[in-house]
Parts: sequence; structure tokens; C-alpha cells
Amino acid sequence: MKIGALKENYEGEARVAVTPASAAHLKKLGHEVYVETGAGVRAGFSDAAYEAAGITVEPTSAALVNDVDVVVKVRPPSEAEIKQMRHGQTLISHFYPSQNADLLEVAREQGITAIAMDMVPRISRAQKMDALSSMANIAGYRAVIEAANNFGRFFTGQVTAAGKVPPAKVLVVGAGVAGLAAIGAATSLGAQVYAFDVRPEVAEQIESMGAEFVYLDFAEAQTDGATTGGYAAPSSPEFREKQLEKFRELAPQMDIVITTALIPGRDAPKLWTADMVAAMKNGSVIVDLAAERGGNCELTVPDERFVTENGVVIIGYTDFPSRMGAQASELYGNNIRHMLADLTPGKDGKLVQNMEDDVIRGSTVAHDGDVTWPPPPPKVAAIAAQKPREKAKELTPEEKRANELAAFKAQTRSQYTLLGIGAVLMLLVGSFAPVSFLSHFIVFVLACFVGFQVIWNVSHSLHTPLMAITNAISSIIIVGALLQIGSGSWLIVLLGALSVLMAGINIFGGFMVTRRMLAMFQKS
Ligand code: NAI
Repeated sequence: MKIGALKENYEGEARVAVTPASAAHLKKLGHEVYVETGAGVRAGFSDAAYEAAGITVEPTSAALVNDVDVVVKVRPPSEAEIKQMRHGQTLISHFYPSQNADLLEVAREQGITAIAMDMVPRISRAQKMDALSSMANIAGYRAVIEAANNFGRFFTGQVTAAGKVPPAKVLVVGAGVAGLAAIGAATSLGAQVYAFDVRPEVAEQIESMGAEFVYLDFAEAQTDGATTGGYAAPSSPEFREKQLEKFRELAPQMDIVITTALIPGRDAPKLWTADMVAAMKNGSVIVDLAAERGGNCELTVPDERFVTENGVVIIGYTDFPSRMGAQASELYGNNIRHMLADLTPGKDGKLVQNMEDDVIRGSTVAHDGDVTWPPPPPKVAAIAAQKPREKAKELTPEEKRANELAAFKAQTRSQYTLLGIGAVLMLLVGSFAPVSFLSHFIVFVLACFVGFQVIWNVSHSLHTPLMAITNAISSIIIVGALLQIGSGSWLIVLLGALSVLMAGINIFGGFMVTRRMLAMFQKS
């Protein structure tokens, strides 16, 4: 099939749906690739770069649409763009069918197949095509960069000869894909990050990224992510009140607020009110990633940056992914090529519109002269929401001290008991066993004790690499085997050789596992 990427005509849009790198993958699927002239320029891909990658550059959008079978683009199509297409052609782009019923109708009349990248079901298998996530990830990162650019101070705390600088305090409201990306970027810049979400199951993710989850003192469990496929549902008015009360308390302390809270199919909830903005310090920054859907901040003006009377910068841009056009095009290009890989199961350049496939069915919004949106629920459930962790009860300082003392006493008691039992056992063994055995036995018991004490204090996440390395080191057996391998008896040589082999596997395997595990904890 012939696949062609249109130039985006939305003003300021820098992204392109096919990059020279993603085109190479499309070719491996048996497709020919086309782009409209200038389509990639704003993302850093010149026509010459496309041509060098063996892609045909078309002079106009009409010529491109005329020559190809599949049209790909980033933004939802305009009516004119759909009308340019002919019966049987496929369009792959964002579509937002719930907000574009009239466009759906045009697609149906035109007889095209429209695949909406924003409708890819959020199931594990489809993550590689999940354009909403890849774009939200970029938006979250970019929100922090924009905030830093508008904030007159450091993110990280510093102690310098010229004075002490406290770290910036960042509050991220909504810890979905964009929120988590923002948390990651802000913590890596050294800020002190707080985050809130109505889905309590994200608390662990937030904390594992080095931020602090803002708990509410509210009895009712927050929304149940499991029933909404990982998305949030609207909160009750009482919950909202508690949430706003907490935000009011936090507003004067926060330097930067990044809001990303969205509920599918609804306007963005208003969570950062005018009085909260008024309570913020001069020079603080609000970045409202929900601006396109009306904004989480009451004062946000979509697509604008402005400064309030009390000196708070409010950023309501709606084109964060486009502001990182090269990166966004690469990731979106990959999402598109994975979608086309699913549509080309034979890798023979032939598109198969398999409406039994959850991902293809879920994202196809018009097909064969019909509107096929909304789709039936996918047969595979969206990534299950984790059970929320119980919020720890707040203790008074006296209670905390009493608890610590009780724990210390219990620990000391159990240590004395163990020591007593050990001494009795040692006496028993000592009165019967030979002296040579006893000295080895004492070394063995002490090794167990010291090893246990060391491992007990290592964090759980490091147990596997630690065990692997101790495994490798403990293969002292190899020394014994080497001493025996020169023996005259074939049986001892055989056993010695087998021991060397197995201990060798243990040593190399142990070090390899340790290396791999530790690499997971390292920043590349
Ligand atoms: P989103 O953009 O619709 O919402 C952003 C965040 O705002 C969500 O975390 C939501 O809980 C939160 N929110 C909504 N109302 C709020 C309020 N009143 N106060 C505070 N926060 C509020 O969601 P997004 O980022 O697109 O994805 C949400 C979840 O979907 C992910 O965290 C994940 O669990 C799931 N997901 C699953 C994928 C997969 O299985 N392939 C891929 C991506 C996401």
C-alpha cells in the first residue's frame, strides 16, 4: 500500500506523522511511503532527508491524497481534508470523535475508513500505539521546562557562599501520564515535589518517583479506577470541597503548580480557584495542561501566557507536544508505524481491517460507509487498577515516641532470647562434638548471624542483586573442587569437574544478574 503523510495546516503545529526513521519500518512492512512537501520541516526533517530515506515527496496535499491509499496525519482532519479523500481510502490521525460528530458524518459520507489514534484502547498490547500517552509524556516534561523558564529561581536547593537557596516547591495536580512525566522532570531538576490525584492507587507511583503524595482527610474512598479503565470519574461535591480546602492550604507555599487533571468526555474540573492564585507568592508559576479542555485553573486563558496582578504567571498553552516537534514526531511516527504493523499482519503491504481485533476495532471510528464509534468495550480489560494503599494514621509525637520505645524493647527482648537459645545449643553441641567440628561450627553460626544482620537492613528492592552477588562470592566450593581435581580416582576427577562447572555457572550467573539488576537502578 501507499502511505502518505500530510503537512499539518493547523497554525504553529510542528509535528509530522512520518519521520525518515519510521518510514524505514513502514517499508519493511511492504508499504511505499510519501510525504507532502515541507511536512517535516518544523520538526527538523527536510524534504531532502525524506528523499534520502527513499520517500517520495509530493508537491501538494491534493497530489499526495490522489496517489496514496492511506493518509496519515497528527491533528484531527479538517472537513476539507476528508472531502479530498475518496471511497475506500484510510485516514489515520487524532480524531476526538466525541467532540467531532460532524466530521464523523463527513467521513461516513465519503466512505473512508477513519482510525482515531486517540481512541486506541488502553490495554497492554496497545501501549506501543498509544499516542495519547506518548504525547502526554512530552507535555508533562515540557510543562516543567516552561515553568522553569518562567520561574526566576533555581529548582534545586543550594548552599552557596552568597547565600542559601531553598528548593522550589512544585505541586502536580493529576498524576496520569502527563503528571507522572512532570513529577519525573521536576524531581530530576531538584525540586521538592508534591502530587495529588483522585485515584489513590497512584500514591505508590508518585512516592517511588521521589514526590510526596498529598493525602486528604476524607473517609470516602476516592474514585475507583478499576471501574473506569484506569481513568478518573467525577468526584462527589464533598470530596471536591476537601480537595479545594487542601489546595487552599498549599497555595501560599507552592512556587510552581502544574495541573493535568482530566476526566474523559468532560470539561476539565476547576481545581485551582482565583483565591488560590491570589494566595500564591509573587513570581510563582501555574502551568495548566488542561487548558484545551477549559483549564483546571479558573483564570487560565487557553493558548496564552499572562501575569496576574499579584505576579503569578499562568501558562495555558495547548501545544506542548508541538513545542518539542522533533521528539513528538519521532514518538508519534512510532505509534503510527505500530498501528500500521497491526493493520498489515502479513508484512506484505496489504492492509487488513480486522474488526475482530480489539485495538483496530476500538480505534476505527468510520468504516465501510458506517460510523463505527463508539466501539464495544474491549475483550481485554484495561490495565487493572492497583488496590489503594491504606493511608497511614497520623500519630502525635508522644504516640510516635511510645511506639518506637515499645518496638525497641520488643527487639531487644527477642535478641536476648535468641542469644540465650544459641548459647544453650552451643553448649549442648560442644559437650558431644569433637573440637575441630566445634570451631568450624562457630564460624558457620557467626557467618549466618552476620549475614542475616547485613541483609535485614538492605531495602527489599535490592535483595535480588544482593543475593545474586553473595551467591557468586559464596561459590568457594570451586576451591575445594580444584584441589581434588588432580586426584587419581576418575570418580573424584569427574565430581571435581562437575563441581567446577556448576560453581562457575553460579559465579558468572550471579555477577551477570547483579549487573543487570543494578543497571535498572542507574540513570543512563
Ligand atoms: P487523563 O489525562 O484523563 O487524566 C489525568 C489525571 O488526572 C488522571 O490521573 C486522573 O486521575 C486525574 N484527575 C482527574 N480528576 C482529578 C481531580 N479532580 N483531581 C486530581 N486529579 C484528577 O489520564 P491519562 O494520563 O491519560 O491516564 C490515566 C491512567 O490511564 C494512567 O495513569 C493509567 O492508569 C491508565 N493508562 C493505561 C494505559 C495502558 O494500559 N496502555 C496507557 C496510559 C494510561
